[in-house]
Amino acid sequence: MALYSRVSGSVGMITLQNPPVNALSAAVRQGIVDMMHRALSEPEVKSVVICGQNGKFCGGADIREFGAKMTGPPLVPMVHLIEAASKPVVAAIEGIALGGGLELALSCHYRIAHSKATLGFPEVALGLLPGAGGTQRLPRLIGVPAALDLITTGRHVTAAEARQLGIVDEVTDLNAVDAAVKFAQSVTGKSLDARRISTYPCPRPPDLDAIFERAMQQVRRSARGAIAPGTCVQAVHAAVTLPYAKGMERERELFSLLFTSGQARALQYYFFAQRAVSRWSTANGARWDTSKPRPVRKAAVIGLGTMGRGITVSLAQAGFSVVAVETQEQQLSEAKQAVSGMLERGAKRRGVPLAHDKIKYSCSVQAVADVDLVIEAVFEDMALKKTVFQQLSAICKPGALLCTNTSGLDIDELASQTQSPELVVGMHFFAPAHVMQLLEVVYGPRSSPEVVATAMQMGKKMGKVSVAVGNCRGFVGNRMLKPYLEQAFFLLEEGATPEQVDQVLEEFGFAMGVFKVSDLSGLDVGWKVRKSDGLVSPASTGTSARIRGGSRYSPLGDLLCERGRFGQKTGRGWFQYDKPGGRVAKPDPWLHGFLEEYRAQHGLVARRIDHQEVLERCLYALINEGFQILQDGIAAGPEDIDVIYVLGYGWPRHRGGPMFYAGQVGLDKVVERLEHYQQIHPDVPGLQPCSLLRKLAASGNPAIHKWREVIQKPRSQL
Ligand code: 3HC
Ligand code: NAI
Repeated sequence: MALYSRVSGSVGMITLQNPPVNALSAAVRQGIVDMMHRALSEPEVKSVVICGQNGKFCGGADIREFGAKMTGPPLVPMVHLIEAASKPVVAAIEGIALGGGLELALSCHYRIAHSKATLGFPEVALGLLPGAGGTQRLPRLIGVPAALDLITTGRHVTAAEARQLGIVDEVTDLNAVDAAVKFAQSVTGKSLDARRISTYPCPRPPDLDAIFERAMQQVRRSARGAIAPGTCVQAVHAAVTLPYAKGMERERELFSLLFTSGQARALQYYFFAQRAVSRWSTANGARWDTSKPRPVRKAAVIGLGTMGRGITVSLAQAGFSVVAVETQEQQLSEAKQAVSGMLERGAKRRGVPLAHDKIKYSCSVQAVADVDLVIEAVFEDMALKKTVFQQLSAICKPGALLCTNTSGLDIDELASQTQSPELVVGMHFFAPAHVMQLLEVVYGPRSSPEVVATAMQMGKKMGKVSVAVGNCRGFVGNRMLKPYLEQAFFLLEEGATPEQVDQVLEEFGFAMGVFKVSDLSGLDVGWKVRKSDGLVSPASTGTSARIRGGSRYSPLGDLLCERGRFGQKTGRGWFQYDKPGGRVAKPDPWLHGFLEEYRAQHGLVARRIDHQEVLERCLYALINEGFQILQDGIAAGPEDIDVIYVLGYGWPRHRGGPMFYAGQVGLDKVVERLEHYQQIHPDVPGLQPCSLLRKLAASGNPAIHKWREVIQKPRSQL
């Protein structure tokens, strides 16, 4: 709601009250409308200040209301009421003015911001556009190019930048509400004719068409199928080409188009999912609200290869003292240089404070004796990791957390090498670790709740989104990747090409198709794992070469590795590159010939495979594994899986994540298609719908937020 008070006799103050971010719920909108009428009717009141409680102006429309029937006064008449007021209205912007919150501020006649406030139109990230006049007022106020930038990217700007752009009139380091009251008193009685943004003509730069053309190209390049960014461009276009009232009509049409789209629903689901994962729980009952994290001041990283370097940078940038240990001298000196470079680039590009002095390098593991937490990032080799954990357990001070960055090895086996297995937990970062936002926190059966809480909190402090997951081969992300990759290989055997499979996945919205990703991360990585699993056998022909442990197996990846085709690093993989380390993938005629020969050798007849089949087999196999993960209690809920896939594996955010997507497709349809493919490929167990998926489908495709009820029942019967 909104509170009304009188300040210094003549200023009516409207304070938005809706914790935690003073979102514009029905009650708040009603309050603003009522209090505006009151302020306008009181003759003693000469001006009005609008502010938010608890140092936050307003976080925009209340997203929690989006799913329900609209009640209360709509936003657009509310902002018109404010702008049309006969008394000056001043917005006192503290903390945030986002989305509808900034639209509210733009309807005021003046804006005073605190220097620490941030402003922006993040609607695009929710699959929407600013729908309360933002797309019509902002270009009138700051010009078309700047408005396009803010509205299509959703980026937040600081108060200083907002001042420079002309969004706010004054920035203060002092109390912004007091400053706004003073300001309101100073403008009492002044004409408001020049202060109503909707009456401004929209600037028309001479190269207008080129500006819009460039903006459209830009959003097409980065949107990966998301419709909101392009629609935002169209709405701003209306501000330039139509009078204000018509522009508002166009904004409304475009807003409702987006609002009712599946993409907006998916993005709004994802918004809450990303916040829900911080309220973690484990299969054995530990929870976020009953587990206290331990204090960590000093951390260590063991192994300064690709991952260790990024983790070191991330820790130092988050303000931790870091001991960085690498036993190979050459690696150590290369790592020092690389880490310095990353820190400098971070400082230059993102304004992160330089943190060289936070890091102490060492070539001896003895240097970690006094740290609170260690992150091990040596080669993915169980024997080596076991030795390192034995050493750490002997060297580290009592109570120090021992974490591993393994991509999928058994956390419990590592824990069993230590004197305190309850202190062992996985912290699985993603490459490049100083950039990627995802952290899988992997708890073993013996990890203590405090240790899980500490790792989750460390991730947050490092700017990551931490997701707690159980211990199993590949955890959540890499475990689901396996059946997805397998299907991609099988499709090549049956007649597809890497470029066809990748094109389908990229059209779906993945940043990169499965084969390009494999070329980027190196085919040898999976090859090593398959070798250590005893899956790679000497080349042979006939069906037996394609069966391992009674299931279908494709040796295609192994055969490429035997020929030295490791992907980008060798200039050849599933695609060809102009040189080793090249980045532009081109179809490789050699590979096409190789596939033909392979099929002939194995008696396989190539067939035409349509896009639908590529998509369904790759995605539904991955999704099915996701349901198995839920059934096994490895992930607590579908949100955990979806956040992992969006942040770690390039799943298109506007499709919500694999579990949300399955719900959108219809769980019964997913079951039906999996059964269809399983009949054709009975030797692929991953195509057999798991029992949780079947159960949910049979219970009428319930909404995703109801899945937990069904998931928890079978588990409690165990
Ligand atoms: N509506 C409802 N709830 C909101 C909300 C909103 N607009 N913004 C944030 N919240 C909730 C979050 O869900 C979270 O709830 P929880 O504690 O129960 O999980 C709580 O507020 C705190 O949010 P964060 O954990 O994200 O806190 P931070 O301090 O990290 O970030 C923030 C605060 C920058 C405001 C961030 O929450 C944010 O970006 N919110 C979304 C803002 C937004 O997109 N506004 C536009 C809405 S659409 C709109 O206005 C349409 C209009 O143009 C017509
Ligand atoms: P890497 O091969 O780049 O680096 C490993 C480093 O560890 C090397 O510099 C090596 O000299 C050093 N090392 C080996 N034994 C050591 C010891 N006893 N003490 C100190 N240093 C030692 O490996 P990368 O890619 O950084 O992987 C590290 C770990 O992270 C592995 O477990 C891997 O599975 C995991 N991981 C890798 C990802 C990737 O994309 N590369 C992603 C996520 C996890």
